[in-house]
Amino acid sequence: MEYIVQYVKRLFAFSGIALYINLLGMVFTSLLESAVILLFIPMIAYSGIVDLNSGLLSNLDFLTPLLQLPTVWILVVILCFYIVIVGLQNAIHRSVTIRNATIQQSFSRQLRHETYCGLLQANWTFFLGKRRSDLVNLLTSELQRVIGGLNLFVQFVSSILFTLIQIALALWVSPELTLLVLICGVALALLSRGFLHKSKMLGRQTSELSKAYLGGITDQLNGIKDVKSNALEQSRLTWLQRLTEKMMQENLASVKLRMNSQLLYKLSSAVLIALFVFAAFRFFDTRGDQLLLVVLIFGRLWPRFLGIQSNLEQMSASVPAFKALHEIQQQYDSAAELPSLLQSAHSQNELLSMRTGMELQNVSFRYDPHSETPTLQDINLFLPVNRMTAIVGRSGAGKSTLVDLLLGLIRPDSGCILLDQEPLSIEQHLAIRRSISYVAQEPFLYNMSIRDNLMMVRPDATEEQLWEALAFSSSDDFVRNLPQAIDTIIGDRGIRLSGGERQRLVLARAMIRQPSILILDEATSALDTENERKIQEAIDRLKGSMTVIVVAHRLSTIRHADQVVVIENGQLVQKGTFADLASENGGVFAQLLKHQEEAVPC
Ligand SMILES: Nc1ncnc2c1ncn2[C@@H]1O[C@H](COP(=O)(O)OP(=O)(O)O)[C@@H](O)[C@H]1O
Ligand SMILES: [Mg+2]
Repeated sequence: MEYIVQYVKRLFAFSGIALYINLLGMVFTSLLESAVILLFIPMIAYSGIVDLNSGLLSNLDFLTPLLQLPTVWILVVILCFYIVIVGLQNAIHRSVTIRNATIQQSFSRQLRHETYCGLLQANWTFFLGKRRSDLVNLLTSELQRVIGGLNLFVQFVSSILFTLIQIALALWVSPELTLLVLICGVALALLSRGFLHKSKMLGRQTSELSKAYLGGITDQLNGIKDVKSNALEQSRLTWLQRLTEKMMQENLASVKLRMNSQLLYKLSSAVLIALFVFAAFRFFDTRGDQLLLVVLIFGRLWPRFLGIQSNLEQMSASVPAFKALHEIQQQYDSAAELPSLLQSAHSQNELLSMRTGMELQNVSFRYDPHSETPTLQDINLFLPVNRMTAIVGRSGAGKSTLVDLLLGLIRPDSGCILLDQEPLSIEQHLAIRRSISYVAQEPFLYNMSIRDNLMMVRPDATEEQLWEALAFSSSDDFVRNLPQAIDTIIGDRGIRLSGGERQRLVLARAMIRQPSILILDEATSALDTENERKIQEAIDRLKGSMTVIVVAHRLSTIRHADQVVVIENGQLVQKGTFADLASENGGVFAQLLKHQEEAVPC
């Protein structure tokens, strides 16, 4: 419950006085509702069922003058009162509901914004350890459950206040009977604690199942080609059947739980009423009007207890969602790259220029802190400004990890990264990231037009600049031939592109940003040799005006690099010009070159 309390506190802090006013409004409507009930007493009296002068309702003496009026007038007064009170009650109810919805919507918007902002600011390491679909699940269903839970809490508070008023009224009418009902209520609440516990457990299952469902479905739809081409449909369907079976069981268990607890309350209500009536007749010489009171008080109070119990059960079921949200918030808070990253508009425009170059000094890094061998070990490397550095090595050697270190996505475990001979702080690293264009091996394009994809990184780009960037990545020809040329939508809803075409567009996007550092991580691996050569020539022309770091896929493309470094098993084993390394007989580079030449005879 402490998780709910935390968010409730924030809700109160967020909405301020408005929520208190609303709660007051709720109390007032409940008072009015009770007044409507009270009106029934003179109505009943008027109808002659109960004799007001019998002494039973002596507390309602103030109503006796009413009885002096002519009968029709009594009725008219009572009915007018009735209309006014019901009208007022519903008008307040309307306004309270609208205000509640406003508060709830603004708070849920704030919560969404805050959570997404926190996620965006978290460092790359945070994402390395998280399944994307779990985050999606959190941002969608878990967040929705939290918002629902908060709504339940507000209802709960108003319900408690409402009940207190009812209790006060009941105490006024008949203290003994009310105390008796209260004692029974508390006893039953103690007995039903098990329901709350079970409800929380089921809530935890809901979280787990919804995570598993979203994770599995996302995975399979992303890999649908693999599923179809390997005829895995049946096995995937079996998976879904098993999961939906569990979901169904869990759902039914929740319904059963709710019904069991309601049954308990309703049965106990019937048993208690029967006992009271019996005791009243048998042991006390009770009149019919007193019995009516028993039923009235019981009938008013007991459903309130039932409501509170069911409210508590539903809140318990949402506790795991509160916990999940709280935990992720704590995690991303401690993984925040820079608190002011999104807040400071000023820092967004601040570009850090590099004068001499970037340097890695004795840098070591491991993904798994417990693993014996580091992913990268004692790397010493200088990347001169406006020069081209090529990184080569076998797959899994650590090239992409090295690039991630340069990007500041991950931090070295030991050693340091220098910029112009000065250690690079996290802030500077983030600033320098804005001068970098990075192209990963798996090209990622948004599901929108090519123009929007390009303009995303530079909203003020001119038509000419767009086509220049497309020409750089030798994609101008194929883009021109698309149905709507540069305005063609690509991705799920639009034209599907080949891997090579996508890589070229991502490269165009990298260029349109006019970076001072260009990092390509096997960015042309899906291209045909002709297009790769064209792009290579374009990159070669950048020499002298841009710092280029290229993780090479095909060694023939890095002939003109200013320096080539070879990574092998996480260590930097060779460094020099292409020609130097090629002539180092027995070296890793010469071996790699030999293998590639054998595979693709030139
Ligand atoms: N997120 C990760 N978590 C754990 N290990 C990783 C992760 N990414 C890469 N590795 C491991 O680190 C090593 C280097 O990977 P990587 O830098 O991607 O190699 P390369 O780019 O040279 O092919 C590999 O053994 C790989 O399995
Ligand atoms: Mg790689």
